[in-house]
Amino acid sequence: MDFAAVILAAGEGTRMKSNTPKVLHKVCGIPMLGHVILAARSAGAKRIIVVVGKGAEEVKRAFQRENVEFVLQAEQKGTGHALKQAEDAVKGEDTLLVLYGDMPLVTNESLRAMVEYHWKSGAAATVMTARVKDPTGYGRIIREGNRVLAIKEEKDASLEEKAINEINSGIYCFQREKVFEALEQVNNNNRQGEYYLTDVVEILNNKKENVFAYEVQDPCEVQGVNDRSQLALAQAIMQKRIINRLMAQGVTFLNPETCLVDAGVEIGRDTVIYPGVYLEGNTKIGEGCTIIGVSRIVDSKIGNNVEITMCHIRESVIEDNVKIGPFSNLRPGSYIMAGAKIGDFVEIKNSKVGMGSKVPHLSYVGDADIGSGVNIGAGVIFVNYDGFKKHRTVVEDGAFIGCNSNLIAPVRIGQDSFIAAGSTVTKDVEEGALAIARARQENKPGWVKKRREREGGDSTNGKQA
Ligand code: UD1
Ligand code: CA
Repeated sequence: MDFAAVILAAGEGTRMKSNTPKVLHKVCGIPMLGHVILAARSAGAKRIIVVVGKGAEEVKRAFQRENVEFVLQAEQKGTGHALKQAEDAVKGEDTLLVLYGDMPLVTNESLRAMVEYHWKSGAAATVMTARVKDPTGYGRIIREGNRVLAIKEEKDASLEEKAINEINSGIYCFQREKVFEALEQVNNNNRQGEYYLTDVVEILNNKKENVFAYEVQDPCEVQGVNDRSQLALAQAIMQKRIINRLMAQGVTFLNPETCLVDAGVEIGRDTVIYPGVYLEGNTKIGEGCTIIGVSRIVDSKIGNNVEITMCHIRESVIEDNVKIGPFSNLRPGSYIMAGAKIGDFVEIKNSKVGMGSKVPHLSYVGDADIGSGVNIGAGVIFVNYDGFKKHRTVVEDGAFIGCNSNLIAPVRIGQDSFIAAGSTVTKDVEEGALAIARARQENKPGWVKKRREREGGDSTNGKQA
């Protein structure tokens, strides 16, 4: 047996007060709709149909590379009207799993269990419900035993109905034919003037069809996101889940509450994450690393036994046994090979630093290919930009670049060559050569005394008298 999922994601999202469509707001680095798609897919949905409307183009663009189909709801007339737009798309299906795009916390396990329950009971519809402390804003479940007789929206509910603390999650299983039949009878005679999907429950009951409740144990799973404070709540719940999973896999967090770890992040065992570490996007960190905050690592791959102290790292690769920081800035395209060391106040961009090479202090390395065993002295600048174009610099294995040198690209520094401190290198340096590119020093004995006599004799040479 199989099923298709229909995700309703066309709504206004008025309460978010945002220029971005609601379902694109991110929870732990992934748009809400992305979490719902992932849960439905992992639960076994063979097709996923997303109903889009508000910001349709933007939503489609965000998921164009996922294997999902889109249906347009041109006008937002309610959740029942939204599902109706998918009628043609799902013609050949028997079972539909219908979800809303604004509930990122539902798990694939709960979805799967609900579908199985729906099949076993043979019901026309199954509603996922939860018992919550504060049901405000949700549709209330009117029950009789395990039957759901109706769902009453908050705005249309009586005082007694409002006191019910079992809520409609917005997740349903339907026999396809029966739900679309029932939808024909849904009208918009309610406080919001919308065609409610929730009304099919009462309609099916009137047709003597079975509608059952499937209650989830953890009400957190069905937390909907309608405004920014619910978004923050969803973020907090999901963050806790992610960090708990990583801790269960053998990662130490010294103070998890202060860290931010996106859903796609992977971390190997025995890595220690200090307070104030932000790991974002597709970041992968190996085993036995130490990451000291405040650090932000985005879309980067870090090997094993790497030590990172107070750094910003983006779209970069760092191999095993590397030490970075404090205060290094690795911009996109940095590739740091095994055993290298990147020290304080070093900025690296679109460059490779070879095995065991050192860039320990105060350097800018831009558009460079640095070989292995290279020593870059303090304050060396790779001058990669001539005001029009960027150029590359090559530093071959074993070269020694003296402090405060400028390497004016394009330029090649040969293997085992030696650049004297303070040089401004504009020409290639051959293998094993010494390059000195600075004015020769000249000392003038007795010059200071002579100057004092000439200028009137009271200069202190800068010292306080
Ligand atoms: C809805 C349910 C409510 C449930 C709650 C769970 C209805 C009538 N009410 O209320 O019983 O407790 O979710 O979170 O279904 N949408 C469209 N097209 C539309 C309107 C909405 O695609 O014309 C989409 C929205 O993008 C959203 C979802 O449907 O993802 C739910 O809409 P929303 O307005 O958030 O419904 P709630 O008031 O939260
Ligand atoms: Ca909602």
